[in-house]
Amino acid sequence: MLRDTLQTLLNAYGPSGSEHAVAEKVRELLEGHVDSMKTDALGNLIVEKFGADENAKTIMVSAHMDHIGLVVTNIEENGFLRVGAVGGISPELVRGRKMVFQDGLPGIAVLEPNVKNKARQDLSDLFVDIGAETREEAEKLVSVGDVCVYAPDFTYLGKNRVASPAMDDRCACALLAELLMYADNQKNHIVGVFSTQEEVGLRGAGVAAYAIEPDIGLAIDVTAWGDTPETKLPAVKLGKGPAVKIMDRSMIATPAVREKLFEAAQAAGVIVQREVLAFGGTDGGAIQLSRAGVPTGTLSIPCRYVHSANEVIDMRDMEGALKILLQFVDLA
Ligand code: CO
Ligand code: ZN
Repeated sequence: MLRDTLQTLLNAYGPSGSEHAVAEKVRELLEGHVDSMKTDALGNLIVEKFGADENAKTIMVSAHMDHIGLVVTNIEENGFLRVGAVGGISPELVRGRKMVFQDGLPGIAVLEPNVKNKARQDLSDLFVDIGAETREEAEKLVSVGDVCVYAPDFTYLGKNRVASPAMDDRCACALLAELLMYADNQKNHIVGVFSTQEEVGLRGAGVAAYAIEPDIGLAIDVTAWGDTPETKLPAVKLGKGPAVKIMDRSMIATPAVREKLFEAAQAAGVIVQREVLAFGGTDGGAIQLSRAGVPTGTLSIPCRYVHSANEVIDMRDMEGALKILLQFVDLA
């Protein structure tokens, strides 16, 4: 079940650079369903499922395991932690949130309440309170360089929606895992890459694409939303189907791959949206520029409040995306 796979993957600790717990969960899920699994030097989990056709193409499908966090930069006299960003985490989004370190140690992210110019607060005004009363006490619990992430959570919202902090991009990891589980005698070779360090610059997918030399690249990731009161762009709504990316800051999708995605959606009977994003990027950007270039597209899951502790998606978009992916590996 997509929902169970999603929940399993959302609970794993995995900031950029420390994704191994997520990879371990994926390995457990895929054991016995695929032809090979290996981990490369950057921690990417690379999973193969061979295609049936003698002229099978190699399709690299990437979903990133990492998510954003805060790295400890200094432990102060009174036991408070100063932190820096791992990926696009902002003080407004993280303030007041419960955070958790790799070993389960909790902390509260606090944006300094007593400053004159509140409008100009940045991460240097943020500290994490782990309950320590002295530096010595704090140093027994954490070290400079340790990373905390939003505490895991899973909340049903209305009939079809789920909110969770790691939805970007564990929802895509769930889709990729299910694609690898359920693709059966498909035409093309699928090389699933559960990638690392996307949030700090698409790093894992770049080296994976170099090694794999795919004929076609596909990234699966969340995209932003345009359906809350004062937000109109991108023209993408939750629950109205997954989105085929036309372009973002990292990539102009290769037209032939984009068209195959529309074809796959039609064959699967799934309505899709068209996405133009003025900011952001995905693993697709790194795959497309690998070696002499790789025809690449991105399938997006509409997601509200991206990079907050409550990233919201609609399970109907997830189910539609899985159907499209299963068609795509046969059609492309
Ligand atoms: Co992200
Ligand atoms: Zn993402």
